[in-house]
Amino acid sequence: MRNRQRGLSIVGLIFGSVVLVFVLLLGMKLFPPYLEFFTAKKHIIQIAQEQRAGTVGDVRKAWQLKTAIDDVSAITDKDLDRGQERFNIFCTPCHDMTGSGKGMVVQRGYRPPPSFHDPRLRAADPGYIFDVITNGFGAMPDYRTQVDARDRWRIVAYVRALQISHAATAADVPGGDPDAANKAAQPAGGGKH
Ligand code: HEC
Repeated sequence: MRNRQRGLSIVGLIFGSVVLVFVLLLGMKLFPPYLEFFTAKKHIIQIAQEQRAGTVGDVRKAWQLKTAIDDVSAITDKDLDRGQERFNIFCTPCHDMTGSGKGMVVQRGYRPPPSFHDPRLRAADPGYIFDVITNGFGAMPDYRTQVDARDRWRIVAYVRALQISHAATAADVPGGDPDAANKAAQPAGGGKH
């Protein structure tokens, strides 16, 4: 009896693990397309709401923008920290810490880059900034080999964060009064970031 039971349970175990592996494989195959499908659906609905009277070109542009931004928003705090660190290593010599374009190398006579805060670059697609880092731009060298693609995306996210923080106005602050927000922040953080 005992032997028979053990035999059965081993068969059961093997059968069970085969089923489990199969289910896992199926899950791995099905799940990402599912997520993508829902993201895509969300975008389509948003685009439809935002632009009722657009051309196909407009819709395509909105689509590209949305998916590009989604890539970046999938980046976590840790990625952003890494982006900042990489940015400080590779970009600040020319673009400086704030992105205004007055880095050390520029102060010594290198061609000054445009500020990241100029409206054209603030409106630039994240993919464009990624492309500039990958392939270089005019006098700027490319970083394709020195910085891998993931880190390039992290840098892009950080550049965007710099741009957003620079553009923050009183309107972004609760109550529209920066002083009020500072006061509100006092008990928690002592006003330091
Ligand atoms: C050696 C100096 C130098 C470094 C390092 C550098 N850049 Fe630049 N960058 C430039 C210059 C110069 C320009 C303007 C080029 C031109 O107009 O010919 C520029 C332009 C740009 C632009 C704007 C392109 C446009 O459309 O005007 C972006 C975005 C940019 N850099 C991002 C970065 C990022 C991100 C890094 C770090 C990975 C970086 N750069 C590192 C010198 C540098």
